[in-house]
Amino acid sequence: MTNNKLFIQALKSEITPNIPFWYMRQAGRYLPEYREKRKTAGSFLDLCYSPDFAVEVTLQPLRRYHMDAAILFSDILVVPQAMGQHLEFKEGEGPLLTPVNTAEKIETLNLNNFHHHLTPVYETVRKLHQEIPKTTALIGFAGAPWTVATYMVGGKGSADQALTRLFAYQEKKAFQKLIDLLVKATSEYLIEQIKNGAEVIQLFDTWAGNLPDDEFQKWAIEPVQKIIQNIRKFYPEIPIIGFPRGAGCRYPDYIRITGVTAVSIDTTMPLDWVRDHIQPLCPVQGNLDPLLLVSGGQQLENRVVEILDHLSGGPFIFNLGHGIVPQTPPENVAQVSEIIKQYKRK
Ligand code: CP3
Repeated sequence: MTNNKLFIQALKSEITPNIPFWYMRQAGRYLPEYREKRKTAGSFLDLCYSPDFAVEVTLQPLRRYHMDAAILFSDILVVPQAMGQHLEFKEGEGPLLTPVNTAEKIETLNLNNFHHHLTPVYETVRKLHQEIPKTTALIGFAGAPWTVATYMVGGKGSADQALTRLFAYQEKKAFQKLIDLLVKATSEYLIEQIKNGAEVIQLFDTWAGNLPDDEFQKWAIEPVQKIIQNIRKFYPEIPIIGFPRGAGCRYPDYIRITGVTAVSIDTTMPLDWVRDHIQPLCPVQGNLDPLLLVSGGQQLENRVVEILDHLSGGPFIFNLGHGIVPQTPPENVAQVSEIIKQYKRK
């Protein structure tokens, strides 16, 4: 029997009657109703750990744009927090963690309180599973170990992840230990999300592209391969989307070795190349520039159609090449959503 959800059909490589779509970071500050809820909840982390609030902000964009998928509202950094690392979000500064940048500090991390800490997230998934529309798929997610480790070691976001890349060379054993712990934690976390109703998983590896080739194999491919093997022992059929942002010509290796079901492609990927070299391997999701979504107008419309024309010949899910940014006009998101809904495959 075919699944009645367009998004799941596309992930099974079926050519769907319409192109399914959703947007990374579709819940967030560009929506006035999100800003309102965040104020009521108190802070961003309060939102993440209050199931009723988290369910509400997950559903907000669906009410406006009727995407084919809802993504659990949470953050990739709740995992290090659940492992015992201090985390806060300072207004306008992004995440701040107490750096875990020595072998001794890595030894202090543990999974003793891990699932207990994440119980509210599992409850959010359970509630969402009951509340989302019947034709909408529910996406669970986690950060891939490399990207999460860059925040854990560096203590905050950075443009080049230099501290973490250096640490991986100089303290290779300790860094491997951290990655192994993240593989275990992330596998268990995602298995719990699936148990509670997540139908698809996405692994975000936002900073994969800054790794040299040999390090990409070691820190972006191998840990994700292990996580997928761990999940598939329990859920052999679960669709898993990988997003190794900036992987470039290494996308095909990433797909073949990790065993992902589909990939999300970033804005740098040439559409012809994706059609010829990636789409024959697996379904593709992407890749509109979030800044063009801010800019809008005819240029936006032209590019949306260009992406659709190039990739709708194979299994395809429309998305952005990275997350929606706060200054995005909500009416531009409406405009793009309408074009996709009206689009007919050639
Ligand atoms: O709507 C969705 O996509 C679901 C929720 C989601 C969030 N973060 C909510 C969020 C998801 C899937 C993420 C993933 C995430 N978080 C990534 C990987 C994807 C990417 O964007 O590269 C990363 C690297 C993080 C870590 C993180 N969280 C950073 C660097 C920041 C600060 C930057 C910013 O946009 O403020 C966050 C905060 C964050 N995560 C917000 C949201 C809605 C903004 C918080 C607020 O309301 O102030």
